[in-house]
Amino acid sequence: MEVIKNIVWHNTTITKADRHRMNGHKSAILWYTGLSGAGKSTLANKVEEKLFEKGFHTYVLDGDNVRHGLNKGLGFTAEDRKENIRRIGEVAKLFVDGGAFVSTAFISPYREDRDMVRSLVPEGEFIEVYIDAPIEVCENRDPKGLYKKARAGEIKHFTGIDDPYEAPENAEIVVRTGDYSLEECANQVVDYLEKNGYFESVEA
Ligand code: ADX
Repeated sequence: MEVIKNIVWHNTTITKADRHRMNGHKSAILWYTGLSGAGKSTLANKVEEKLFEKGFHTYVLDGDNVRHGLNKGLGFTAEDRKENIRRIGEVAKLFVDGGAFVSTAFISPYREDRDMVRSLVPEGEFIEVYIDAPIEVCENRDPKGLYKKARAGEIKHFTGIDDPYEAPENAEIVVRTGDYSLEECANQVVDYLEKNGYFESVEA
């Protein structure tokens, strides 16, 4: 591999704190993790709507969409999923630096990969949101018909069927989409942000 050198970090003139002051709110990664069909994208979009209505800077990075562009060509081996999450983590970090609430909706089945992203940003800027929906609920919903295909052996290494999912042990927020309405789940996330001071800007 080519050794890359002569690349020097350049500090920006406008800082993250400047952006927080300008926006009137802090920024963070809302890292949604859970099985396929658990409701990650649906919830991420609902929460974004609520934040957007408050006039906040927001963005959603969604697994299925990002795999069409930036992460096109990556599959579902442990190695590819790791690279998928690593790239998303780096992009999400840029969004946080840019002053936004960035929501990421990826299965991200490996604890180690999620913890790696957590370590990329300062404490408090990575909020793990575990979408705790039992596999039976997800399989019953099967919005894309993929569980059916996985059960039929047409898709190999499908998370929850013949590939692992390591549930978070210390997620900041645990949401039970199987037991509560979308509205209730979205409010749970927004309330967490409000109670923990994310809707206040830093002191000037
Ligand atoms: S991750 O494991 O690398 O985080 P990601 O969230 O990007 O996964 O993509 C998951 C989506 O890809 C699923 O919602 C599903 O639509 C699709 N998919 C296709 N094959 C698989 C598979 N083997 N396991 C899980 N999801 C799959």
